Amino acid sequence: MSKITRRDFLKMTNKVLGAIGLTALAVPVLAFFFPPNLEETPSDPVLVAPENDLPVGEGKTVAFGRYPALVINTKEGLKAYSAVCTHFACLCTWNAEIEQIACPCHEGFFNPLDGAVISGPPPTPLTALHIEVLDGNIYVSAGDES
Ligand code: FES
Repeated sequence: MSKITRRDFLKMTNKVLGAIGLTALAVPVLAFFFPPNLEETPSDPVLVAPENDLPVGEGKTVAFGRYPALVINTKEGLKAYSAVCTHFACLCTWNAEIEQIACPCHEGFFNPLDGAVISGPPPTPLTALHIEVLDGNIYVSAGDES
């Protein structure tokens, strides 16, 4: 039976740690060059949340194909929009304090009821998405909000 010397053990350990380090570096680099093949807009409805998890006044951002969608439970019902700002494509978020959709990049604000621009530089309203509730779950899909 052969014995592993201390020197051999350290060499092996060094190689294993080096391989782990290279893998840790390579994975994000490869992910950058080979991004996941996401649909521009999903062809099937995307689950947002159970209806009870989105009370009135709350909003939720969900992955929706290549770009996120913003779903808001307004006092007038559920509304959904592409979260991509129509100015320079920053991602908008729901601001519950002021009850508006806000773009953090250039202080653009949108009306949660119709996606219209309230103030700031965005030239057009947010793109409305279709929303529906099936079996107590909220789904968002491409198309008008109707
Ligand atoms: S990118 Fe949204 S206001 Fe400029």
